[in-house]
Amino acid sequence: MKNTMSVDLLARLAKGKSFMELAGKVVLITGAGSGLGYAMAQAFAATGARLALLDISKVGLEQCRAQLLSVFPDLSVQIYVASVTDEQAVHAAVAQAQATFGGIDVLLNNAGIAMNQPTHELSGADWRKTIDINVNGVFYCAQAVAQGMIAQGQGVILNISSMYGQVAAPERAAYCTSKAAVSMLTKVLAIEWGKQGLRVNAIAPGYVKTALVDQLVAAGRMDLDVLTKRTPSGRLGESHEVATLALFLASEHASFINGQVIVADGGWSAYSYI
Ligand SMILES: NC(=O)c1ccc[n+]([C@@H]2O[C@H](COP(=O)([O-])OP(=O)(O)OC[C@H]3O[C@@H](n4cnc5c(N)ncnc54)[C@H](O)[C@@H]3O)[C@@H](O)[C@H]2O)c1
Repeated sequence: MKNTMSVDLLARLAKGKSFMELAGKVVLITGAGSGLGYAMAQAFAATGARLALLDISKVGLEQCRAQLLSVFPDLSVQIYVASVTDEQAVHAAVAQAQATFGGIDVLLNNAGIAMNQPTHELSGADWRKTIDINVNGVFYCAQAVAQGMIAQGQGVILNISSMYGQVAAPERAAYCTSKAAVSMLTKVLAIEWGKQGLRVNAIAPGYVKTALVDQLVAAGRMDLDVLTKRTPSGRLGESHEVATLALFLASEHASFINGQVIVADGGWSAYSYI
């Protein structure tokens, strides 16, 4: 696994004062074995947070933990191998994390898959799989941590949606629908749990260089050159650009931001000229 965040940025985060109130916080990250989940694990580790990492990939989690500990030897980190689609396994992992750490302060609901198929060829099984991981999984994890957060009177949930929950793209019926559902679920949870001290927001990234994008490019379902030209910022995003936004939204700096979907897409969704 390549290091997704520059040593320079990690050092700046570790030395900076901006997000130091996250030190000691317990952060549960789903889909932490790769891509954005791993980048967010690095960023929160740099602030001194304690990490509970969940993924369906045992190998990914073990690699992630080993790499984190090589940079942050004092890091408190536990891994949980589970699918976010398995409601019982999610509740069991959350209960274990709560028992180990004494509670969960932040959930980064990040696990998700892409689904690019011409809609008339998309199988029912692939539609259901996308909705199951990208929507049901987000709901199970949010519900599992919310019970403890409500009892604590505080907590932050950040759902990783997508710009494709805001704007449409061809051959992505299941993906766009799933991410639009995540964005709306974010708002419902925020207005329901706000008075109990929780904040629920979503990050909606544009194209970010991760394994998810690499696989679509390798399968011929994505053209990097076209994407780069279509993006007003003239490049794809970097995973640390999502990770630092997650730090901000989880921190006290964002204490009055609730029920929002923050788009980080280099201007993609603002652009409609050609
Ligand atoms: N990379 C992008 O351009 C981009 C853009 C917008 C949104 N997103 C969203 O960001 C999130 C992370 O994407 P990424 O690019 O890092 O992808 P990735 O494929 O690199 O990582 C996804 C991780 O989720 C895990 N995972 C998959 N199914 C799971 C399951 N059922 N239970 C638990 N873990 C599971 C995988 O094992 C993997 O470690 C996804 O929700 C994705 O939709 C990504």
